Amino acid sequence: MGKLEGISIQNYSSLKFIKMGRLFSDRSGTPLSNMTTIIGPSGAGKSTVADAFGFIADCLEMGVEAACDAKNRGGYEKIVSQGVTDPIRFELYYRETSNSRPITYELTIGLDKNGRPYVAEERLRQRVKTTGHPLSFLYLQNGVGYAFEGTEGGQEDDTNHITGEKVDVQLSDPRKLGVVTLGAMKQYTRIEKFLNFLKSWYLCYFTPDSARQIEQSAPQPYLNRTGGNLNNVAQYMYRESKSDFAKILSDIQSKLPGITKIEPLKMANGQIVLQFFENHFREPFFTQKMSDGTLKLFAYYLLLHERNPRQLVFIEEPENGLYHHYLADLAEEMRKNVGTGFSKQLFVTTHSPFFVNSLPPEDVWVLEKGEDGFSTAKRASDYKFVKALTEEGATVGDLWYDKYFG
Ligand SMILES: Nc1ncnc2c1ncn2[C@@H]1O[C@H](COP(=O)(O)OP(=O)(O)OP(=O)(O)O)[C@@H](O)[C@H]1O
Ligand SMILES: [Mg+2]
Repeated sequence: MGKLEGISIQNYSSLKFIKMGRLFSDRSGTPLSNMTTIIGPSGAGKSTVADAFGFIADCLEMGVEAACDAKNRGGYEKIVSQGVTDPIRFELYYRETSNSRPITYELTIGLDKNGRPYVAEERLRQRVKTTGHPLSFLYLQNGVGYAFEGTEGGQEDDTNHITGEKVDVQLSDPRKLGVVTLGAMKQYTRIEKFLNFLKSWYLCYFTPDSARQIEQSAPQPYLNRTGGNLNNVAQYMYRESKSDFAKILSDIQSKLPGITKIEPLKMANGQIVLQFFENHFREPFFTQKMSDGTLKLFAYYLLLHERNPRQLVFIEEPENGLYHHYLADLAEEMRKNVGTGFSKQLFVTTHSPFFVNSLPPEDVWVLEKGEDGFSTAKRASDYKFVKALTEEGATVGDLWYDKYFG
């Protein structure tokens, strides 16, 4: 459980300083919705936002130096904003449930004296219920600092007053995140929970070709980045509950134009293949024969139905390869699927007004290049007239297309 109510990114590529939603350092913003869609011209920084999320996930998994080099990022010097000497900074404002007090995670990544990327600073804070004072329950500078055990307590920022179980910490590798090392230990309850939230992030770039390749038979709970393990996920869902899976398939089939039925078929080797029955044809078609768009839509809907869903999913340009008339439904389904609770959150980048037409202006963020060449971010509902016009029945995608904003 948990969701991101806000994020700020500094000095990451074209994102010299953007804020989205509510933050610890600026509580004037409204929290992010469960579905956040980012639009804007080419080069505005949409993929960079997606990559910033991916970068944080990679920092967890492989440490900051390897993360700077991964995914063609080209190393720290290439990803830090051009002309900037300050380090890269992230601030995440996270809330576990509607009853819990938000937690702020601050992460600063810079270069050490030998020019190697390292974690300069890492901090987790939560306000005290009664006084509203922020308490740090993890604070590391150059890998040295403290952490607090349990579910309460911390060190007050101004007075250094301590409540709870403070433990001095020194990390052996300054390229590894403290939340990873400490979150692996049961006694750091809050750090562990936050780490689990970060670990469940998922960036998805579905490509129909990989979905056509039948992978080795093995059930897998989650779709991978390209959707190439679609059949394995189907197999997992089938194994966990045949009746639930049948319901999911019947729900999806109703959303795939021209498809009358989708049925799993268990092969002699235990593998599950999916049979797609189409109008006019008696014999089913298997995954490999389905059209690119049908497979992509299927993968998105399957993603929305994953058991134990990942808490934060980032999808880049879902419209690619899809017929424009499907996009309104897809956006609406995504919105319905994430709901308003704390179990799922979606971030999407898109160029499609058809997709955006299904969304309220609070769910849409516009990225643009400012005069200095760096990205700016603004919520569609904060543009003059947009909120009022949508309340009168205009749709956000049409307003965008007609250049009322963005
Ligand atoms: N280190 C850097 N400092 C500043 N700007 C950078 C840096 N690295 C790349 N850029 C710029 O950041 C922008 C990133 O564009 P990005 O790929 O995020 O755009 P996009 O909104 O996804 O566009 P599209 O719609 O074409 O996919 C580019 O204009 C690029 O010139
Ligand atoms: Mg892009």
